[in-house]
Amino acid sequence: MAHGDEIFQAKKFAQFRTFAEKPGDIKLGQALFTTTCMTCHNVGGQGAQIGPVLSGAGAMGIEALLRAVLTPNAAMEGGYRVFRVELKDGDVVDGLLVSQNDEAIILRRPNSDDLRIPQKDVRRAWFTKVSMMPEGLLEALKAEDVSNLFAYLRTLK
Ligand code: HEC
Repeated sequence: MAHGDEIFQAKKFAQFRTFAEKPGDIKLGQALFTTTCMTCHNVGGQGAQIGPVLSGAGAMGIEALLRAVLTPNAAMEGGYRVFRVELKDGDVVDGLLVSQNDEAIILRRPNSDDLRIPQKDVRRAWFTKVSMMPEGLLEALKAEDVSNLFAYLRTLK
């Protein structure tokens, strides 16, 4: 990473750490979590199964939570990489690889049923180097909403 990037990252972390440590509204944070995060994450049996279950995420602590959300591609587990399928008609489909065999590839994507792609339609398929966990989620929020979200995340223990 270039020196300038490091300074930028450090500043960004410091800023979001300030928001994350502020007291927030747990109820509003939970509502935000439901719309923004549960399309992929499960808490207490609710939500989707694209990312890890976050029922105990509060125990990670603010620093680790921030790192997971601000820089999802830094410490990525192989099983959560975006799997990309290029079809013979030129279309490209991204998702979490559920399974693949001689017959078909099954992909899981947010807000939709698992997609079955017959191998006969596939030109190429490979794991990308990016995580299914999107970048820029916190950057898109107002400071107050970051505080609310973290107030809720801290309760998950
Ligand atoms: C499009 C799917 C998706 C969305 C939306 C999403 N996540 Fe994730 N998240 C993932 C995946 C996949 C991982 C696993 C990352 C990896 O290891 O590459 C992950 C990892 C995490 C982790 C680390 C968990 C651990 O056990 O290490 C945290 C914390 C987290 N996400 C929080 C959030 C929060 C908070 C939101 C909403 C603001 C959110 N995520 C939205 C897919 C998503």
